[in-house]
Amino acid sequence: MKLFGLHKLKTAVFISGTGSNLKNLIKFSLQRKSPILIKLIISDNKNAKGLVFSKKYKIQKKTYNFINKRKDEKKIIKFLRKNNINLICLAGFMKILSKNFIKNFKGKILNIHPSLLPKYKGLNTHFRAIKNKEKFSGCTVHFVTSKLDSGKIILQKRVKIAKKDTPITLSKKILVQEHLLYPKAISKLFTNP
Ligand code: GRF
Repeated sequence: MKLFGLHKLKTAVFISGTGSNLKNLIKFSLQRKSPILIKLIISDNKNAKGLVFSKKYKIQKKTYNFINKRKDEKKIIKFLRKNNINLICLAGFMKILSKNFIKNFKGKILNIHPSLLPKYKGLNTHFRAIKNKEKFSGCTVHFVTSKLDSGKIILQKRVKIAKKDTPITLSKKILVQEHLLYPKAISKLFTNP
């Protein structure tokens, strides 16, 4: 699916925490050939570490606490529309977006998940993969639909689980691959050959 020609996709990245994927996507977007331009950072957590990248890279940020999810989503939709956002990248965003929100940006929301979907949807993926004695885990970039971690898969990367891996060591190994996979998936979708 090659969606556009000359213009870079105006992108919003949604985060909740550290923002290493956000930082990585910003760096990717700054490459001349990158198909995206990151215009907004949205967070559900005003203390998210990743918000530092807003100042560092001069990208507008907004936080919403989601206590009233319906109202906040409405505000976010308005804000994204005002900024002509045409791609949303969820990157460690811990809130589940409503059906209505997703409908408003149909086919335009991507997510990265730290497992080989459809295995290990949801939380504690590394713990569960190790507990089940899996030989491999990995990460997946997929389209977001209203079913949790279930939209069409764009790309996956396998990571070997070593005998001595803990959820922490495994998450670090997988995160390195996430940083490679997210830009690769975006390029696959949106770069003309
Ligand atoms: C990543 O492992 C991502 O896949 C998961 O949460 C983590 C976020 O890391 N959903 P970061 O905030 O991008 O550093």
